[in-house]
Amino acid sequence: MQTREQPGPFPHTLLLGNFYAGGPRPSSGALFERRNPADLRDLVSQAPQSSAEDVRAACIAARDAARTWAHTPAPQRAEVLGRLAFLLTQDKESLSRFVAREVGKPLREARGSVQEAIDTAVFFQSEGRRLYGQTVPSELSDKELFTYRRPLGVVGVITAGNFPLAVPSWKIIPALLCGNAVVWKPSDDAPGTAALFFRAWQRAGLPPGVLSIVHGGGKDQAGQFLIEQVEAGNINKISFTGSTAVGRRIGEVCGRNLQQPSLELGGKNPLVILADADLDLAVDGALWAAFGTAGQRCTSAGNIIVDRRVLPTVRDKLLRRARALCIGDPSNPEVDYGPLINERFMAAFMRQRETGIEAGAELLLDGRQILPGDEPEAFTGDATHGLYATPRIFDKVTIDMRIAQEECFGPTVNLIEVDGMDEAMAAANGTPYGLSSAIYTRDARAMLRFKEEITAGMTSINNSTTGAEAHLPFGGNGWSGNGTRESGIWVLDAYTRWQAVNVDLSGKLQKAQIDLVENALPPHEDLEAILPKRP
Ligand code: UN1
Repeated sequence: MQTREQPGPFPHTLLLGNFYAGGPRPSSGALFERRNPADLRDLVSQAPQSSAEDVRAACIAARDAARTWAHTPAPQRAEVLGRLAFLLTQDKESLSRFVAREVGKPLREARGSVQEAIDTAVFFQSEGRRLYGQTVPSELSDKELFTYRRPLGVVGVITAGNFPLAVPSWKIIPALLCGNAVVWKPSDDAPGTAALFFRAWQRAGLPPGVLSIVHGGGKDQAGQFLIEQVEAGNINKISFTGSTAVGRRIGEVCGRNLQQPSLELGGKNPLVILADADLDLAVDGALWAAFGTAGQRCTSAGNIIVDRRVLPTVRDKLLRRARALCIGDPSNPEVDYGPLINERFMAAFMRQRETGIEAGAELLLDGRQILPGDEPEAFTGDATHGLYATPRIFDKVTIDMRIAQEECFGPTVNLIEVDGMDEAMAAANGTPYGLSSAIYTRDARAMLRFKEEITAGMTSINNSTTGAEAHLPFGGNGWSGNGTRESGIWVLDAYTRWQAVNVDLSGKLQKAQIDLVENALPPHEDLEAILPKRP
């Protein structure tokens, strides 16, 4: 990996290239730049805008690598994960600092996101010694039945920039453990983090060609070219994290080709506060779920649904706490959240303000882009060169408003008043999404009802909507995905297919369902005739 010095106080720029067919590959495409969102003068990395031909060549080369890798015993494949976990642990601090610089995550959170990748690698290292199939009894003598997990072939992975190491690890680690080759198109918001992760795999001893990386954008660029390789027959599976709109298009292409992609899409996650809740705990959870990571998690809470009896208290507490949030430089340990990841998110965040006002929602706290000369008190960033925003709280929101229905990656949240559990439930299930959800209550019956009736794939009881652990199934329903899950043992089904095998040792042709010992039912008995008659 090459680097170049920058003028001024900034660290070196990473000069990145594609890597496939076991080596670095030049690209005919132009270069794109990734700048630090906390200071846009800092050029973090530069990577190729890969051409369709680059992506095609990567997929074809991956096909050959997949064959050899599939024949490597799973416990040996898993050894690579053990070494990967070791290297990520050893480099945790420098990787976290790089994540913070490239996507603006506060250092504390960046460390957590690297830890999520380490946890995933550790979990799947041991899975390499299981990856169980079954032995199944046969209906015929001297015959055995077995099931095996078989790899799919070449998996195309497309990831977002908000968790540039953790979310790719959820996909790449199990896909490789299961014996597939992977072609990865990382987010163009985080090409440098991707390159560092890729390098860790190489150092961990992953055989050349098993994991490839092609850089570039999504629409009309490398992401789209990778999807075209499904149509061309060079990809067996797509795993995607990103918007619902793009997920739908990927689903169409994969569906036409009779493949099931893994789609981890958007969310408009509800956090319910019932009248009997511990309100301080609930406001802690709401604040973190709404404004942690500057609201740029797919699990961030978008709608805070509050029982009218406690709404005035919740409103006051939330407003007071949100006003006191410390925004700024991600490397400052005091900071609650850093910059928005890119200008596109900032523009959408500002549009959402107008959408809410037009619908009649009340701006309780006016979230705006922080501009020079207008910085909030506790601000520690650089408003001239960074993409910072203050928190926004909309009050008097109803669930049918666009701002309550549409995902917005940014520090913005809606307060929705409800009267009792029925209305809370209806509002919580009142969007087309279904990723994460939360309820704060002390009532065991309300907890049970929420768990049973919420349509989201993930639910927290007395905890925030974010912060799923790395070994539970992660994923959503409705517009949040296509029902596939990441993480834990459940993800194995996404990267393998089941093979059913029967071995007949009888030495003769035995026909299932036909050559069975006759097992006739007992003849009919007329109970009426036997039972004593009423006198
Ligand atoms: C995402 O935003 O895409 O549960 C993933 C969480 C994190 C992962 C978020 N563990 O909030």
